[in-house]
Amino acid sequence: MKTLKTGSIASPQDPIALSPVSQRCDCSEHDMPKDRTISRLRGELHRLQEQMRKAEASKPLQKTLAKAAQPTIYVITPTYARLVQKAELTRLAQTFLHVPQLHWIVVEDSPHKTPLVTAFLASSGLAYTHLHTPTPRDRKLQEGDPSWLKPRGAEQRNEGLRWLREDRRGQPGADTQLGVIYFADDDNTYSLQLFEEMRDTQRVSVWPVGLVGGMRYERPVVEGGRVVRFHTGWRPSRPFPLDMAGFAVSLKLVIANQDACFDGDAPMGFLESSFLQGLVTMDELEPKADNCTKVLVWHTRTEKPKMKREEALQKQGLGSDTAVEV
Ligand SMILES: *[C@@H]1O[C@H](CO)[C@@H](O)[C@H](O)[C@H]1NC(C)=O
Repeated sequence: MKTLKTGSIASPQDPIALSPVSQRCDCSEHDMPKDRTISRLRGELHRLQEQMRKAEASKPLQKTLAKAAQPTIYVITPTYARLVQKAELTRLAQTFLHVPQLHWIVVEDSPHKTPLVTAFLASSGLAYTHLHTPTPRDRKLQEGDPSWLKPRGAEQRNEGLRWLREDRRGQPGADTQLGVIYFADDDNTYSLQLFEEMRDTQRVSVWPVGLVGGMRYERPVVEGGRVVRFHTGWRPSRPFPLDMAGFAVSLKLVIANQDACFDGDAPMGFLESSFLQGLVTMDELEPKADNCTKVLVWHTRTEKPKMKREEALQKQGLGSDTAVEV
């Protein structure tokens, strides 16, 4: 145990830095009452820290037991190579690291797994599955197409569903396995609370999504604990006028409905409906987030970075080092 007897100054590793008092004078000669008090308190602190350390040591087992009892959240994220990809994935991963019992299924829109995503996931600290499937040429957006022209990520989400179903096949009790599936695009912003809201999804749970559809928020409207209609600015008559970020589905339901998938040819705004239609009816939806009154996910969009200077420098052979991953 360190004391002030020798007039030592706290090392940077010490849990609590010494007050500057001890640095102003070498008190080892005087051993003033003040220093004896500090010394005594440090001893007390050390004792308490030991107690805490012992208490922490017995925690992991409790934590493991509590974790095993709660359903796993399988998050399916379609992603594609672009300048902001690593930044987006970093933000997402660092949110997911705070969520217990989460399994991340990352599906690249690519004919092969890219080195960037491979290395990123390996060092992420998350439980994950890395998949890839390219979007067929005729369904791909062309340069300059508005982003809403064709639904994006349908094939990748279906690939995630295929993996989940296959992985569960042959496992004992697969059809009763607890789990929740959530489709999390890599550009949105997610509150940690959202994951606890969705964790006990029985069939399909729903909640508001902020900053979407040209509105402050879209949401299911709940009366008497049931979804009765949807607050949306565009075609509220769609079977499920929900954003991809606004619902989660139980693993059980997806296993029981082997054919449920996203229709990449669905008309604009109908992608979510193409998947949900075969799974639930509106009155079966489970409203979360205080009867859909709280916004816990935001449809944020990262601006595409401009590369004017980079391109100019490249022309002079002075571009940024391509070996540096961004
Ligand atoms: C949701 O609404 C139902 C019916 O009005 C009510 O019983 C319930 O307490 C509400 N739940 C929350 C979390 O506000």
